[in-house]
Amino acid sequence: MRIFIDSANIEEIREINAMGFLDGVTTNPSLVAKEGRDYHQVVKEICALVNGPISAEVISLEYQGMMNEARQLAEIHPNVVIKVPVTEIGLRVISDLAKAGIKTNATLIFSSNQAILAARAGAAYVSPFIGRIDDISYDGVALLTEMIEILDQYLFDTEVIAASIRHPRHVTAAARAGSHIATVPFAVIKQIIKHPLTDAGIEKFMNDWKQVY
Ligand code: E4P
Repeated sequence: MRIFIDSANIEEIREINAMGFLDGVTTNPSLVAKEGRDYHQVVKEICALVNGPISAEVISLEYQGMMNEARQLAEIHPNVVIKVPVTEIGLRVISDLAKAGIKTNATLIFSSNQAILAARAGAAYVSPFIGRIDDISYDGVALLTEMIEILDQYLFDTEVIAASIRHPRHVTAAARAGSHIATVPFAVIKQIIKHPLTDAGIEKFMNDWKQVY
């Protein structure tokens, strides 16, 4: 499973990227708004830092607006992937961008049927929001597992990004389910790395060492 970071914060992305396991980045309008910076500049800086797919979402909700934004974002860097919400217009945009050779990440997916339509329309990635499914007392991992089974069965080229990850167990569950990618927030990546037994082990090694040398 490849690991993306779900962030628009340059310092977070830089810090995680330095550890050598980062495969890509996803942003969304809320994450970019949190930074309060020029949108295209943020995307440009992320592309300069990370060599992998960088998802940037369109804001417009109507066809021409989405297409214009998508083309402008795609011009920033060849690694930019256009995030498009799965709506009636969104599916049309996904299809037309695919025909124009522009990759898309179908976002805000909450059912396998939405994923099937997005994949058929030509989305390179589909992003089920598993944390938000859990939030309404349904099972996000079960949805992810079902979606992967279906897409695999029909040999879709579309890759699944487990999104809306809330805690380290979501990452393990996504890997067990066979998700191609998990996009993980900075804080959850930090939680994954840290383990009390690792810290205790280092402390003991250091103390034992100091007693002799
Ligand atoms: C996915 O690409 C989204 O940016 C993200 O995972 C949404 O997560 P949230 O539910 O924590 O906002």
